[in-house]
Amino acid sequence: MRTKYAAWVILGILGSFLFGEPAQAGKKKQPDLSKLPPASDRKDLTYDKDIRPIFEASCFKCHGPEKHKGKLRLDNLPDAVKGSEDGKVILPGDGAHSPLVINIAHAGDEDDFMPPPKKGQPLTPEQIGLVRAWIDQGAK
Ligand code: HEC
Repeated sequence: MRTKYAAWVILGILGSFLFGEPAQAGKKKQPDLSKLPPASDRKDLTYDKDIRPIFEASCFKCHGPEKHKGKLRLDNLPDAVKGSEDGKVILPGDGAHSPLVINIAHAGDEDDFMPPPKKGQPLTPEQIGLVRAWIDQGAK
């Protein structure tokens, strides 16, 4: 009796591995916006002066002049605003909901953490706050 019960339990666990996965696949975790560092209170932020240097140090290796991972370039403002193969990553006026900010703040799906874990140092909360504020100010 016991062994029969155990067999059903094992079957159940196996089943949830086999059939539970596909239902989960492709489902994105809702970003946790409370994880975002606050927007910097610095005014008049611009891509050229404030943001490009941050991207150059941490992102150009994969989103710069040579490589365009995810079809995203961050080495010039028009391409950055245009977005990636999945659409816009910068929503001018709304830093908190911009995928780029969510990705660098590690607030959403682990697959989208940027730079990818082990492939670069995460940005500091100050840097993330600057990027967030720059987008809030219109991403100019
Ligand atoms: C080592 C390479 C690498 C570095 C460094 C890197 N990325 Fe990425 N990035 C990728 C890859 C690969 C993808 C495509 C991921 C995918 O399609 O799943 C991507 C995709 C993205 C996307 C698009 C996600 C989407 O949903 O379309 C954003 C935004 C992004 N990166 C931002 C950044 C920022 C900002 C930095 C720097 C702070 C950065 N990345 C640094 C490799 C990198």
